[in-house]
Amino acid sequence: MKKIGIIGAMELEVEELKGKMDIRHTQEKASMEFLEGTLNGTEAVIVRSGIGKVNAALCTQILCDSFAVSHIINTGVAGSLKNEIDIGDIVVSTDALHHDVDVRVFGYPLGEVPQMGCLAFPADKHLTALAVSACKEVNPDINVYEGRVVSGDQFVSDKQVKDNIIANFQGFCVEMEGASIAHAAYLNHVPFVIIRAISDKADDSAEMDYPTFEKAAAAHSAALVEHMLPMI
Ligand code: ADE
Repeated sequence: MKKIGIIGAMELEVEELKGKMDIRHTQEKASMEFLEGTLNGTEAVIVRSGIGKVNAALCTQILCDSFAVSHIINTGVAGSLKNEIDIGDIVVSTDALHHDVDVRVFGYPLGEVPQMGCLAFPADKHLTALAVSACKEVNPDINVYEGRVVSGDQFVSDKQVKDNIIANFQGFCVEMEGASIAHAAYLNHVPFVIIRAISDKADDSAEMDYPTFEKAAAAHSAALVEHMLPMI
């Protein structure tokens, strides 16, 4: 049976979807509240994971073990890693990697978790295509990009740090959860996609831009998730 796990790190990334859900049951696990019900006619579980890679990985594992979700969508905001990707635009993942993993000393490429057999965790092609077409329908005035999401336990707000991440990983946007959701979903053989609206440029302007744009950006991403659910 189709049952979609929807993860947002922060309340503002899930509050709109929670408000629209027909909630059947609420359950707390690992200090996270899991809301089960239907959203836009589709079986779903919505949860706020909390910020960062450990919270997000825990949350994903619980969705797999306790809720048997068939697909996972991560909705939220991110910093842009490309000049042409502006605040308000949307990035849909092709794959995701950890930009803060470094085991080069034993021959692994920067970003690769040893013994995983891959550098980046591939998103589900069908979910990615659906998200892109749903975005064009629901947010026709917003540009949507398909590309790599890179994640680390770090808010990137320094041009030098940003430039290093770009040079090393060819990412489209940077955030703090996507790769660990991808990593956990990959290990559980559950298809996933990450959908992120740009709230800042991940450079010295991020400190100012992020609080200004995070709410509107999160709402764009959530609207897109709601719209694509029945098509999965
Ligand atoms: N989420 C939104 N903007 C971000 C940034 N610049 N770095 C990390 N996570 C983010």
